[in-house]
Amino acid sequence: MFKPEKFMDEKIAWLRQTIGNGDALAATSGGVDSMTTAALGHKAVGERSKVIFLDDGLMRKGEPQEVVKILRRLGMKARIYDVKDYFFEALKGRVDPEEKRRAFREAFYLTFARLARELEVDCLLQGTIAADVVETKGGVKTQHNVLEQIGISPLERYGYKVLEPLKDLYKPQVRGVARALGLPREVVERKPFPGPGLSIRVLGEVTSERVELIREATAIVEDATKDVPCFQAFAVLMRDRATGVTKTRKRKYGEIVVVRVVQSKDAMTAEPTALPWETLRRIEKRITEKLPTVTHVLFDLSGKPPATIEFE
Ligand code: XMP
Repeated sequence: MFKPEKFMDEKIAWLRQTIGNGDALAATSGGVDSMTTAALGHKAVGERSKVIFLDDGLMRKGEPQEVVKILRRLGMKARIYDVKDYFFEALKGRVDPEEKRRAFREAFYLTFARLARELEVDCLLQGTIAADVVETKGGVKTQHNVLEQIGISPLERYGYKVLEPLKDLYKPQVRGVARALGLPREVVERKPFPGPGLSIRVLGEVTSERVELIREATAIVEDATKDVPCFQAFAVLMRDRATGVTKTRKRKYGEIVVVRVVQSKDAMTAEPTALPWETLRRIEKRITEKLPTVTHVLFDLSGKPPATIEFE
């Protein structure tokens, strides 16, 4: 039986000992995994664990400011680093899903290497969990935060140690630890969001226009499903286009957006969530009204397997 309080105490002691007299960087995205990791680091060594938020331009609408506010309320001073241009440049021209993921991972670790040098820190606290490791090792997809487990030493390659206190836990256990740490509900129950963010919800090439479109569509889907009990609810932009027609009977060759809502316990398997017809129609209306380049809105019926939760 997993005991969150005991786990929390052990990991705080482990972090205190491992960080020693040095400083650490805690990378957080606002998700429960990275916030729990940052909170453990803060309890272990206080301000010597510097909390940072990378604004890579691939997060949800308003997320950077919202996350920093939550962290401040929790007594953690967080700094936002604007690295949008760097990440968009790293992803430019890439269309293959695994290539995109590897490019994101490289940009992610290289950014920390630069910040670690600037801030004179030699270790990074990261919220990797068991599902990330299993999927990457099993060759399903390259998660943005798994290196050591696939034989790449972050110390040798990037010059810093990576500490992953949650790497053996699955999501429900992480939520237990988050509760034990006293994190607020909005963090404990926050819907998971992939590390590479909207870059993997824009199929094919990542451009700022395509990311803006899916950011808006994601906000619409999340808002329309906020009272629906589900693991994740989001939108994906297809690579293809499809023919549509305007109200004045003009041809329009538009974008295709897929709405995906799933139930899951630990992200290893998932089932599609049945939404009321009215909710689906409301989502379709809001997306096509707000985003006039979209001609088709589809609903995904797939479970995991055979699909994965994200499309790339
Ligand atoms: P898949 O698509 O593999 O997703 O069924 C399982 C869960 O993991 C999230 N996800 C990621 N999380 N880094 C992360 O931290 C990643 O690279 C990544 N890719 C997918 C996904 O949103 C789902 O909750």
